[in-house]
Amino acid sequence: MRRLQGQWALVTGASSGIGKDIAEILGELGCDLVLTARRTDRLDALAKTVSERFGVEAVVIPLDLAQPGAPATLYEKTTSRGIAVDILVNNAGYGVHGFFLDIPWDRTGDMLQLLVTNLTHLTHLYARKMVERDRGHVLQVSSIGAFQPVPGFASYAAAKAYVLDFGVALNHELRKSQVTCTVLCPGITITEFQQVAGHEELTAFERMLAMNSREVARAAVAAMLKGKAMIVPGRINALNGWMTRILPKPVAAAVAYLTLGPPRDIGG
Ligand SMILES: NC(=O)c1ccc[n+]([C@@H]2O[C@H](COP(=O)([O-])OP(=O)(O)OC[C@H]3O[C@@H](n4cnc5c(N)ncnc54)[C@H](OP(=O)(O)O)[C@@H]3O)[C@@H](O)[C@H]2O)c1
Repeated sequence: MRRLQGQWALVTGASSGIGKDIAEILGELGCDLVLTARRTDRLDALAKTVSERFGVEAVVIPLDLAQPGAPATLYEKTTSRGIAVDILVNNAGYGVHGFFLDIPWDRTGDMLQLLVTNLTHLTHLYARKMVERDRGHVLQVSSIGAFQPVPGFASYAAAKAYVLDFGVALNHELRKSQVTCTVLCPGITITEFQQVAGHEELTAFERMLAMNSREVARAAVAAMLKGKAMIVPGRINALNGWMTRILPKPVAAAVAYLTLGPPRDIGG
């Protein structure tokens, strides 16, 4: 992969899972890093590791990105340090698993603020500056859940469908510039996601498809540096995603429900 010395990448959700692996890979390529998420101790540990191992600068900005003002705060904190972000990785996220009406509204509302509104706002803030400099990459983290309605992850999958369509459309809008936007659609990836979503017990089918976050992150960074519109890591995931997209949506929803199993009642 191309070396990235002298460039800055901002990675959201860098304290764990796919975001942490993407940050490490970008650090290994020589990129300086802005790391953000809520857990400062994890971010500090990652910043220390990447700067010691790869000799890059790593700045930690702890933030709750589900708060409405968070994108503006983050933008202000990076620009006031004189950091021009060349790579924006919109990765922070979580899912809520359950029947939509059983999930307390605040959990769903915060998730949508994080996955939809704040992701879009961060893109608006940073990609405009990239276009002014006529260089840069945006990596939007969606999901293969974006390809079909998913009962049990209804609002999460719909939010990821937004991220997919938004990112691919933006890639097209940017085609005459040197700025690219790539959408990553991971399948099941072993991270803290399952625990946070309350979906720890994977079905046999899910276990068969599961990937580790390092391979997903490698595929994502490679696709982003090539300026691809989207990437689905793993051949079976890609095939599965392709088949899902050609099914009528009600059929695809029924298949997703059978595959995932019924959500447990989380109350509220
Ligand atoms: N794992 C999968 O199977 C899978 C499949 C498809 C798509 N994805 C997507 O991949 C992305 C990364 O998830 P992951 O699998 O790596 O899960 P993960 O290990 O749980 O990591 C999620 C990251 O998002 C951060 N985050 C969550 N809420 C946040 C908030 N309010 N403010 C700031 N940061 C927040 C977390 O940091 P803090 O908790 O420290 O804030 C953490 O760094 C997500 O967008 C997820 O939807 C995952």
